[in-house]
Amino acid sequence: MAEDNNRRSFLGWLTVGIGGIFSVFLGVPVVAYVIDPRHRKGPKSAMKLVEGVKLNELAPGGTPLQGVVRDTRTDGWTLYPNDVIGRVWLVQVGARPDLSTPEKLAEFNARTTAEKASYLFVFTTKCPHLGCFVNLNGAGNGFACPCHSATFNLDGQRAAAGNPAQRGMDTLAWEIDADDPELNRIKVIFKSYEANNAEKIPLGGGDKETPNL
Ligand code: FES
Repeated sequence: MAEDNNRRSFLGWLTVGIGGIFSVFLGVPVVAYVIDPRHRKGPKSAMKLVEGVKLNELAPGGTPLQGVVRDTRTDGWTLYPNDVIGRVWLVQVGARPDLSTPEKLAEFNARTTAEKASYLFVFTTKCPHLGCFVNLNGAGNGFACPCHSATFNLDGQRAAAGNPAQRGMDTLAWEIDADDPELNRIKVIFKSYEANNAEKIPLGGGDKETPNL
């Protein structure tokens, strides 16, 4: 009898031991995956640097310039740590604000996108009609989409009657990069919006924004 109890007890401990070993072998990779910073989602609305264009390359009434936005992107199991996630058009319409002190810079950056538009428009290059890439028009005084001939003024509003786009070009929230010693670079919150809709609805969730009609 005592021998039976000992055997049962031994088998019980053996089962627990084997279970523990399997848990460790299976659990360690799962825990490692979860705590690996590459698998953590960053803040959804983080500002991203616009590369390829500096503010002092623009001028009021001058030709708009294009910049590139990069971020970490995942595609299935593949991680792209510094991939191009979008492009933006920068259009300077007013004088550069006074950014001579950290307080003035902070005050400017705290303004709304609509308020900042008296100085600079920042548009995503995606056409609000069906998402094609919007180019400068031939004269450089507006934008044109090659896919279905949508045209836009330099303020992003639709240029012509019969425009297939239901809203103007989508503005993005932006700020002057405080880490740039020359204050010549900007950061944006890069977003895409629902195509072919008069309303400006961010893809992937978020509050509806005021469209550029
Ligand atoms: S996608 Fe631009 S006009 Fe259709």
